[in-house]
Amino acid sequence: MSGKYLVTGGAGYVGSVVARHLLEAGHTVTVLDDLSTGFREAVPAGAYFIEGRVQDAARWLDGSYDAVLHFAAFSQVGESVARPEKYWSNNVGGTMALLDAMRTAGVRTLVFSSTAATYGEPASALLTEADPTAPTSPYGTSKLAVDHMITGEAAAHGLAAVSLRYFNVAGAYGSCGERHDPESHLIPLLLQVALGERESISVFGDDYPTPDGTCVRDYIHVADLAEAHLLALDAATAGEHLICNLGNGNGFSVREVIETVRKVTGHPVPEVTAGRRPGDPAVLVASAARAHERLGWTPSRADLAGIVADAWEFARRERADG
Ligand SMILES: NC(=O)c1ccc[n+]([C@@H]2O[C@H](COP(=O)([O-])OP(=O)(O)OC[C@H]3O[C@@H](n4cnc5c(N)ncnc54)[C@H](O)[C@@H]3O)[C@@H](O)[C@H]2O)c1
Repeated sequence: MSGKYLVTGGAGYVGSVVARHLLEAGHTVTVLDDLSTGFREAVPAGAYFIEGRVQDAARWLDGSYDAVLHFAAFSQVGESVARPEKYWSNNVGGTMALLDAMRTAGVRTLVFSSTAATYGEPASALLTEADPTAPTSPYGTSKLAVDHMITGEAAAHGLAAVSLRYFNVAGAYGSCGERHDPESHLIPLLLQVALGERESISVFGDDYPTPDGTCVRDYIHVADLAEAHLLALDAATAGEHLICNLGNGNGFSVREVIETVRKVTGHPVPEVTAGRRPGDPAVLVASAARAHERLGWTPSRADLAGIVADAWEFARRERADG
């Protein structure tokens, strides 16, 4: 059955890919985005677009919507350390206003972009949703605060809610890909080196207790992630706040990712070893057993070279199109 969805942050990387998947599945999509870090041209054709803030969602939300998919947030870890108030105001304050607007309009289903950053330093090799949450940045803390807020909303007011805790999102889906400014994610940074826009890549720490000394992360293709959102809409249950990790369960070290980018792009991609960054755990890998069990989700694009190849194609096309 086709639905009508509000996608906040749908002019950004993940939101635009999910909006496109919703449209391809025959749903009606309205994107609400203030373009603070997103791009008008990233909003997929066929979606309605409102340039506005989540804080003002009450102006546009009404009972005709079946659900909200909430991506709008600031997500730069370093910036959140320097300006925590910006993260509390936008991520927490924005979501508070959105939940109020949803309650008033009678929209009772929410899918929220949570993050692996809610866990902080991991207590186990494969992180499950039962692991302790102790974020190491105001960004992670703001996202965890929203998760707690949603838990209360589900318990008190019957919201059907799913928080999806993404690990490292990467890759592209057709004309929708990753564009952050400043860029802080490893794969697009490496592609900037391959495109000659950056001289080298900094490797932050090569003395971690990992096989090659560099940090290990779980890279998940953005299209696999998008599919989980559609499944989450079906799985959402009134009065329950379901939290699911989204990752492949495979870790790749920074050096393995660099090597993969060298192979895919044919560029030597010089690297410079720098010191560890505070708050960077050695290993962050997801157990996605719950997403498999509760959402029926199985990622099908786990191959790192394939993820990098899709991101590379997007990066080159984007530069060519200007
Ligand atoms: N990219 C990742 O690896 C990753 C990992 C974990 C979690 N997440 C979460 O996923 C979501 C999307 O991330 P992304 O990488 O696509 O980021 P992005 O910056 O590309 O997209 C965020 C979008 O939200 C919009 N926005 C921000 N504040 C807004 C507001 N108050 N009102 C309206 N629009 C607003 C921005 O303009 C932008 O288009 C975020 O919530 C982020 O915390 C991302």
